[in-house]
Amino acid sequence: MKSVFVSGLLEGQVAFVTGGGSGIGAGIAKRLAAQGAKVALLGRTAEKLERVAAEIAAAGGEARCFPADVRKFLEVDQAIKAAVAAFGRLDILVNSAAGNFLAPAASLSANGFRTVIDIDLCGTFNACRAAFEHLAKQGGSIVSITATQAEVPTPLQCHAGAAKAGIEKLTRDLALEWARQGIRVNAVAPGPIEETEGMSRLAPGDTATTFKKRVPLGRWGTIDEICEAVTYLVSPAGAYVTGATLLVDGGTSLLGAGPWLDMIGEMMGE
Ligand code: HXC
Ligand code: NAP
Repeated sequence: MKSVFVSGLLEGQVAFVTGGGSGIGAGIAKRLAAQGAKVALLGRTAEKLERVAAEIAAAGGEARCFPADVRKFLEVDQAIKAAVAAFGRLDILVNSAAGNFLAPAASLSANGFRTVIDIDLCGTFNACRAAFEHLAKQGGSIVSITATQAEVPTPLQCHAGAAKAGIEKLTRDLALEWARQGIRVNAVAPGPIEETEGMSRLAPGDTATTFKKRVPLGRWGTIDEICEAVTYLVSPAGAYVTGATLLVDGGTSLLGAGPWLDMIGEMMGE
């Protein structure tokens, strides 16, 4: 898809993308690089990051890899410091790292719940906290990728829904607290996005067909469509937007939890 934004929009800027090794995060990293930003990629698996960095380089951009676990503040802090040392500054942080799986709350272990909160919510705080001192130097922008499950009560995903709701609240708190430093803090809440690990986990097998039929706009979204929303928020077009969560879901959330409601009985062994 050709972006509606002029190219070179982010020339001279540096972006740090967690979860940049695959799916939506990789798409965002490539898009920010295509708009002129130098990009730092963080994820646990170095090979995934290196593949994305190579694609960015092949397209004429510049990217570096910083393997780390977002749950470990010291690792994230070191990675962001190393990215700033390599590229000279930090303007944009995108939090896309996350974990999710379908599990009924009644059988989800305490560690399963905690693991997802730790990756999504604590991981987002860790990256925001580590990025603050660098973003504050000249102002900048944070965008966290949440999900419609943050607002819509959704069976089988209480762990991820609670984590994403926490991120949206954190987004508003940080937007207020860091506005004085010129740091805008926003979120993008995607609905179901095609060709992602997320939807292969959340709509396995034939259920994908049912899911698609029930989206008001009649299809799943694309990674490119999430990239457009992120580009808007980090660009001058979004200069007066902070504390917002931009829904990009084809109207899915208007209908409630939809197909996941039909899956409760089977997953609870009824
Ligand atoms: C029930 C599960 C489980 C499952 C793991 N656990 N998978 N419980 N059903 N399918 C439990 C384990 O039993 C364990 O608890 C605890 O979770 C931690 O599991 P580990 O495997 O040790 O964790 P870890 O290696 O850290 O891996 C984290 C992970 C994994 C989240 C479990 O799936 C992962 O790395 N995911 C990253 C990629 C991903 O999920 N992408 C999709 C994002 S999509 P016990 O008690 O046994 O110790 C997305 C969509 C958003 O986020 C929309 C919804 C909001
Ligand atoms: P994905 O490809 O699995 O992306 C998640 C990334 O996070 C992976 O590259 C993973 O790499 C990284 N990650 C996971 N745990 C990490 C950790 N502890 N530390 C550092 N990195 C970690 O999934 P996706 O579907 O594209 O999802 C991307 C984002 O969009 C997530 O925030 C997700 O919640 C959100 N979202 C997706 C959808 C959808 O339809 N797909 C809908 C709504 C919201 P490693 O495993 O190598 O670390």
